[in-house]
Amino acid sequence: MSVRLNVEDYRSHARRSLPKFVFDYLEGGAEGESTLHANRADLEALRLTTRCLRDTRDIDTSIEVFGQTWAMPYAIAPIGLCGLFRPDGDVMMSRAARGAGIPHVLSTASNSRIETLPAGNPLQWLQLYVMSQRSIAEQVVRRARAQGFGALVLTVDVPVSGARERDVRNQFKVPFKPTSRLALDVLQRPGWLWRLAKGGSPQFANLVDGDEKPSAQTQAMLLSREMDRSLDWQSLQWVRALWDGPLLIKGVLHPADARMALAHGADGLIVSNHGGRQLDGAVSSISALHPILDAVADRIPVFVDGGFRRASDIVKALALGARGVFLGRPMAYGLASGGEAGVASVIDLLRNELRRNMILMGANTIADITRDHLAPNQPVFPRFDTCHEQTPRPPAHSF
Ligand SMILES: Cc1cc2nc3c(=O)[nH]c(=O)nc-3n(C[C@H](O)[C@H](O)[C@H](O)COP(=O)(O)O)c2cc1C
Repeated sequence: MSVRLNVEDYRSHARRSLPKFVFDYLEGGAEGESTLHANRADLEALRLTTRCLRDTRDIDTSIEVFGQTWAMPYAIAPIGLCGLFRPDGDVMMSRAARGAGIPHVLSTASNSRIETLPAGNPLQWLQLYVMSQRSIAEQVVRRARAQGFGALVLTVDVPVSGARERDVRNQFKVPFKPTSRLALDVLQRPGWLWRLAKGGSPQFANLVDGDEKPSAQTQAMLLSREMDRSLDWQSLQWVRALWDGPLLIKGVLHPADARMALAHGADGLIVSNHGGRQLDGAVSSISALHPILDAVADRIPVFVDGGFRRASDIVKALALGARGVFLGRPMAYGLASGGEAGVASVIDLLRNELRRNMILMGANTIADITRDHLAPNQPVFPRFDTCHEQTPRPPAHSF
């Protein structure tokens, strides 16, 4: 077995374990994938600097968020269709996160039922897509609340599906039906095929309450991301009526939208371009982070995702002022490579990298990582100086 030292090693292993159409689903971005690449390129362009001769015998990687302790400043981003990587993939992700003391965000497009995840875990969060049939969102949130989930993440960057050209070319569909075109691809991955045959084709298990399976039509709606395009800032009142815990907005890229989120009572933001899977040509997440942090001015926690592959990437976002970082594909590489143990290993290797980086940078705690750790003469990120949009006053009632 090849040695897996870093996220890239897990990626290579995942590529060898999964049929091409599944790996492409995981790996791909929208259209020409320029935003996908920008996420990495802009992170790599940022340079750190160190502070030396500091006593670093007492490294503490933990952070506090919404009154809860995270053992590390990173968490598992929502990933739809985890069952394609491993049957029960969502449960495996959830368990690995719980074992490590970090959050896991269950996707609306998950394949494991909400009720199969441990109850009363505040680090278990739910990601919400609002499809045109709003009753789906209502029942998903109600069940997550009953299960004691700790936060709700409303994804706002999918009013329509991004054009994932790899999926179109591969004729990727759910429920999964191996066509003769895919047969050769699938037969080259007998381990994957055997697990799929045993676990059954993954279904979007949370679209209906109870044991009945969602109709093929409802599943197709989610796969093609037929969302409620009437969803707007006022709709946050409807979300608030369903959920009274911490509410985060995921998919914000513009500082004026960050101010709108504040004005409408969001408890946190995730700066994200959906891993380059939505608007191709959109700014990289790391470059969008800086102006959003300035707009939010510490009033609520700001997180970021997109392209983070090393703890040195994570540390760059923390140095800019992000409260924490979400990771999508790296965790799915771990899942595809080794199930729950694979995800746990990815979490662990990032922890080891983080501890080493903190010692090298002269930081004992996450709070010790500041803009002081970013080298001067950094690439110029958009400043949005020309944006004079007025921030609306918060509504009179609180929600
Ligand atoms: C295969 C895959 C499925 C995803 N499914 C969802 C989803 O269901 N809901 C959501 O809000 N984001 C989804 N995302 C986006 C991730 O939550 C996250 O924003 C992105 O993966 C971060 O970039 P990274 O993969 O480079 O870490 C998905 C991403 C991937 C790669």
